[in-house]
Amino acid sequence: MKSAICLMLGLALAFSAPSAARDLAEVKASGTIKIATEGATPPFNYFEGDKLTGFDVDLGTAIGEALGLKVEWVTLAFDGLLVGLDHDRYDLVVAGHGITPERQKAVDFSTPYVCSGAAIVAKEGGARTVADLAGKIVGVQVGTTYLAAIDKVPGVKEVKTFPKDTDALQNLIAGRTEVWVSDKLTALTASEKAPDAKLQIGDLLYEERYGMAFKKGNDALRGAVDKALAGMLAGDGYKKISDHYFKQDIRCP
Ligand code: ARG
Repeated sequence: MKSAICLMLGLALAFSAPSAARDLAEVKASGTIKIATEGATPPFNYFEGDKLTGFDVDLGTAIGEALGLKVEWVTLAFDGLLVGLDHDRYDLVVAGHGITPERQKAVDFSTPYVCSGAAIVAKEGGARTVADLAGKIVGVQVGTTYLAAIDKVPGVKEVKTFPKDTDALQNLIAGRTEVWVSDKLTALTASEKAPDAKLQIGDLLYEERYGMAFKKGNDALRGAVDKALAGMLAGDGYKKISDHYFKQDIRCP
């Protein structure tokens, strides 16, 4: 009995696990490109009811269309996104990943598709500068460059980590943390959405260029996506999506 269950489990795993990373030819032959994102980082990628939407989602969908492909979106926790690439669960990730040397050891990135930065966010009168972080309780999302960076700031009293960035925000609003470090554009949207919280966006800890992530060595697919992205940047496609979500153009200068 036990072995029968094991066998069934084994078969289920075998059938649910997709094969090796799909190159451009395979993706084109299938007619569908699988893109992963988090779905919990407004306004980049988030759910409106049960509809996945946001800047990353519109941009990824437009790129898929430019390549003549249907887009199938997959959502999962932020800190699992790059790992899933390695397991060939999808073809690329569009989720606001900062291009870092550390991540470049594990994945390949598209040309930068957003330039943003890590903002120090507090409630009115709270921390604004790196020096102000001394003695503070800071909340950040796990798996992010924000966590890696805050761990290096001397004098921080405590770093609280959250699976979702929106939880880190809610904890700041509720007063369980004193600082939230996150994407400056995400923070701007949050402060507009919750004016009563009186969020104060202070200095940037650092600037960041965001890339779409691919399995290492999947060069033809990455090249095709880069080309489609360049086309959208050259035309008005990118600007329209950016203006819609941010009321500004967030491309890299
Ligand atoms: N840019 C950050 C990183 O590269 C975070 C990405 C997720 N976005 C967010 N607002 N939490 O890790």
